[in-house]
Amino acid sequence: MTSQISGLDTRFALAQAIAREAGAVALDYYNRRETLVIETKRDLQDVVSIADREVENLIRARVAEVHSNDGFLGEEYGLAMGDSGYTWVVDPIDGTSPFVNGMPNWCVSIAVLHNNEPVIGVIYAPCHDELYAGATGKGATLNGRVLTLDPSRTIRNAVTGIGANNYVTPAFVGKMVEDLLAAGGNFIRNGSGALMLAYVAAGRLVGYYEPYMHAWDCLAGYCLVKEAGGWYHPFPVEGEQLTKGSPVLATAPGAREDLMKIAGL
Ligand code: IPD
Ligand code: CA
Ligand code: CA
Repeated sequence: MTSQISGLDTRFALAQAIAREAGAVALDYYNRRETLVIETKRDLQDVVSIADREVENLIRARVAEVHSNDGFLGEEYGLAMGDSGYTWVVDPIDGTSPFVNGMPNWCVSIAVLHNNEPVIGVIYAPCHDELYAGATGKGATLNGRVLTLDPSRTIRNAVTGIGANNYVTPAFVGKMVEDLLAAGGNFIRNGSGALMLAYVAAGRLVGYYEPYMHAWDCLAGYCLVKEAGGWYHPFPVEGEQLTKGSPVLATAPGAREDLMKIAGL
């Protein structure tokens, strides 16, 4: 039995309320996406718009209204340190490429760290009206339905999510796909790593691997997967590491060994 972390309940409820509110704002932008000016970041595939920035601003403001001493890291505006022991780690829109190109695979991803552990994970996919919510000791749910992973699912009888960006070489990505297929697995990539991690928690995917992602991409999904009975490769969050990239792997129990081998972890 996990002892209750002080202050967890209010933040868990707040994270869910904010995810829905932020998701509604993002959905409004999505529905008029032809009016958005699309900018690029690291390369032509790495896109962003005012929707990402405004949604992050909203989430920051909502957290600060209630928990002004909490730290906050968002993809668009970076890290503001706090001193409460809690840090919110937010991707306002994960799956910006699907978002700007008119595909529904994007989400709002909100994690909360307590003493460097992801203790809250909330992912909301507005186009599907799906709210994934998990917190330490409270389990994980999808629209209120409890999520429990099936240990009989492996990379061979289920599908694995993968992702990649230009932090890794084409050869590395080719090898990871080759190794997964050679081991009898198959893959899907929908353009939102955070959403695919939520799909692992929901049992839709048996695992998710991406060689280099950031804390805002993975921590909410990690909490969800753990609470559903799965496993994740820890993401380094101490000090400066919180804003740097690292390999991301989360799995159902029956896929852990195979995917650790494929990921070389
Ligand atoms: C990206 C998505 C994508 C993953 C990239 C991420 P963004 O996040 O999660 O699926 O492959 O590594 O950067 O840019 O849509 O927030
Ligand atoms: Ca992201
Ligand atoms: Ca993003």
